[in-house]
Amino acid sequence: MNKSIPVGGIDFAYDEHVKNGTVPLLLVHGFQLDRRIWAEVAPRLGLDRTVVSVDLPGFGQSKTDKMFTIPTLADHLVAFMDAIHHRRFILAGLSMGGYVALDLAGRYADRLAGLVIVDSKADGDNPDQKANRQRMIDLVRSQGSKAIAKEMLPNMVAPDTLRIQPHVADQLRQIMEACPAKTIETALAAMRDRPDYNAVLDHLTLPTLILVGEHDVITPPKMASSMANRCKTAEARIIPDAGHMSPMENPAVVARLIGEFAGAISH
Ligand code: MLT
Repeated sequence: MNKSIPVGGIDFAYDEHVKNGTVPLLLVHGFQLDRRIWAEVAPRLGLDRTVVSVDLPGFGQSKTDKMFTIPTLADHLVAFMDAIHHRRFILAGLSMGGYVALDLAGRYADRLAGLVIVDSKADGDNPDQKANRQRMIDLVRSQGSKAIAKEMLPNMVAPDTLRIQPHVADQLRQIMEACPAKTIETALAAMRDRPDYNAVLDHLTLPTLILVGEHDVITPPKMASSMANRCKTAEARIIPDAGHMSPMENPAVVARLIGEFAGAISH
């Protein structure tokens, strides 16, 4: 159900499918996206637990111009979960949402019962990637959200998704183009300045699932295996027929793997 709750001066928009049972699952989207990316995954999870998907501040229907960093987004998520009365939860984050999830796992491990990192990575930006973020900030300032969507879209999905599932690429384009330019600018700076999260993986003791689309060129499968190799409680799984947007490109497999993982966590 489509809901909203004020937390720290921001109205957080979220969907919540309430069920009794143990710890809930929180789904977090990535850059230039919103919670709609989970729309085909959430109903297929088959879980006897509450499932929440939220729009991060500035994205989707959580309207705000407030500045943020990856760590402050993690703080916002914790405050949001407090506000909807969930102390412990399983957290799944896609790409930028994965950076937020790793940050939260590093600083609020006691709040988490499990972690799912989807199409993401632990490495920080290298100097070339930081320079590219600045170029994209200049682009969004001069030409707006559509220019960023146009540049990113071909790398977001597998070539076959463009060919066989054009409606998925169309919906993705709509979501990306709807993201406010100011949010894109802030998010690009937040991703550029985020820490390297490999040390979080080294110390993680939470059950952790790492998913990656087999054709993801933004955070390729080799990054998923290197994350899993660093973390003794992590397992990596490849999503077939998907690129960087596996929850939209192959929601059935993403839902099955997250559902099995979360279903095995009892407290
Ligand atoms: C995302 O999909 O959230 C971003 O592409 C990640 C990034 O640019 O580092």
